[in-house]
Amino acid sequence: MTKATALAHPNIALVKYWGKRDQRLNLPASASLSLTLAGMETRTSVEFDEALEGDLVELNGVLLTHAHNLQRVTAFLDRVREMSGRRRFARVQTHNNFPTSAGLASSASAFAALALAASAAADLELSASELSVLARLGSGSAARSIFGGFAEMKVGHRPDGQDSFAVGLADEAHWDLRCLVAITAHGEKAIGSTDGMLQTMSSSPYYDPWIAHVPGDIEAARQAIAARDFEALGVVAERSCLRMHASALAADPGILYWNPTTVRLIHGVRLARAQGLPVFFTIDAGPHVKVFCPANERAACETILRDVEGVLDVLSTRPGPGAHLLDERL
Ligand code: DP6
Repeated sequence: MTKATALAHPNIALVKYWGKRDQRLNLPASASLSLTLAGMETRTSVEFDEALEGDLVELNGVLLTHAHNLQRVTAFLDRVREMSGRRRFARVQTHNNFPTSAGLASSASAFAALALAASAAADLELSASELSVLARLGSGSAARSIFGGFAEMKVGHRPDGQDSFAVGLADEAHWDLRCLVAITAHGEKAIGSTDGMLQTMSSSPYYDPWIAHVPGDIEAARQAIAARDFEALGVVAERSCLRMHASALAADPGILYWNPTTVRLIHGVRLARAQGLPVFFTIDAGPHVKVFCPANERAACETILRDVEGVLDVLSTRPGPGAHLLDERL
């Protein structure tokens, strides 16, 4: 095969990844735990072609020219070439069905889809954990999008990262939840997660305490998921999110990802919960708020979010499958 197309979904961390023990290999400083989300997706086709004199990468029909973004993909393809012993350059076409410019998590689905499409196009037959290791080299959170449903990213201990990959905890059929994404701003976020993490690690006095509490959160989240205990999962997810943001806020200079609408949504979710609606929030390295509820409460939850001043849109997602190959051409 020289061409392959893969589809992957983003994932949202319920126990956050925020810190690395190795920058080059994206080895995390702590474990993390996520849910893969159908409703948003990346489709990527990769074709290795001996006629090419360099990698060509298209995102939503536009050729990537920004050196940093292109270099991140080319370095990733170099790793696939090294693993397969082939030297051909690649034509990469990738499409996101969600607003990339809104600053939503796109690196997870992007590198999960790229890992699968590029390794298949290069005839590498990788196991799920080998694919997860490969995806991690593109972006730490991408390692989790190889799996559907709930996935846990193992921290690993080896310096080469071969034991730092995600594992599936429960597939997408395990628990019929909804995750509503409240969009609160247009445009890219000011500090990407890679730089935000770095700044937190190097200057926040709260970084070490943040990392120290992750193993307990992982254990609590695992138990809540196994028991389908919504309230317990909400407690650990909000705690992990707020502690991650606290560590970033305490960096020097402090990193604040939230806007006033983000804060209004936090209050709105907590008020709705106090009034009896089963609901909890989480927030990544940006101003949008992801709100979880059981499937039968989706409409009620969406109405509340749309009523919050400053909310631009609400996307509805549900547990989704892991990265998989598609037959069709893009
Ligand atoms: C806040 O995976 O985007 O979304 O490994 O540098 O590419 P890199 O970082 P990335 O970080 C994700 C951070 C987060 C939390 C999470 O998804 O666990």
